[in-house]
Amino acid sequence: MSVQLGVNIDHVATVRQARYERNSGSINVEPDPLDAALAAERGGAVGITAHLRQDRRHIIDDDIFRLKDAISTKLNLEMGNTPEIVEIALRVLPADVCLVPESREEVTTEGGLDCVTFGASLEPTITAMREAGIRVSLFIDPEPNQIEAARSLGVPVVELHTGAYAEATGPARERELARLYEAACLASEAGIQVNAGHGLNYTNIAPILTLPKLVELNIGHSIVSRAVFVGIEQATREMVALLRS
Ligand code: PXP
Repeated sequence: MSVQLGVNIDHVATVRQARYERNSGSINVEPDPLDAALAAERGGAVGITAHLRQDRRHIIDDDIFRLKDAISTKLNLEMGNTPEIVEIALRVLPADVCLVPESREEVTTEGGLDCVTFGASLEPTITAMREAGIRVSLFIDPEPNQIEAARSLGVPVVELHTGAYAEATGPARERELARLYEAACLASEAGIQVNAGHGLNYTNIAPILTLPKLVELNIGHSIVSRAVFVGIEQATREMVALLRS
């Protein structure tokens, strides 16, 4: 089976908030991330990803509840490990949550969640999610110690941070790909599903598809950017075609 695509629709909400952040009661509020999610599903997305940030800079609470109700695929809620957002997640009950860093201290060198340092504080959240029937993923750097921490925490999924790969060029990019390859091997050997995301686009995606045991990619910015010209459905369809090729 080809690698599956989750479309992150945060930046549709970014455009909305750019104008309507202080006027959400307006009758003209647009664009609606829910419409984007439905179009992404028509284009072949197997899931919709949205990040409810503490500062609500793009997605807001109401979006998450509406997405959960309206989409026919699955909702992957990206979230920081903060009591307020955990409480919302337990009310929304998305299929998946992906725990990501919310504050600077939780970030590793490359930008993933530092599960080595913060394992103890992640544990109660992971347990609460599991008990609520939510599948938990950890957004981590492709580092052996982070994979080991994810294994100790008993999560079923990791999302490997591809940001350093996306930013690198030449030999450095090859090194980043090798790190991702090694991490994907370690995770799958530990029985953990391998997802990946961040900074992926139509031109840098092909080498990522060579990663072993890769199940799902979460891609946002490049699809929303392409959608400005061709629409979300077509932009999603084009990325799905690359994943299948
Ligand atoms: N995966 C995670 C965990 C993210 O936080 C994000 C958004 O930053 C993405 C994937 C999508 O990244 P991008 O918008 O660069 O495709």
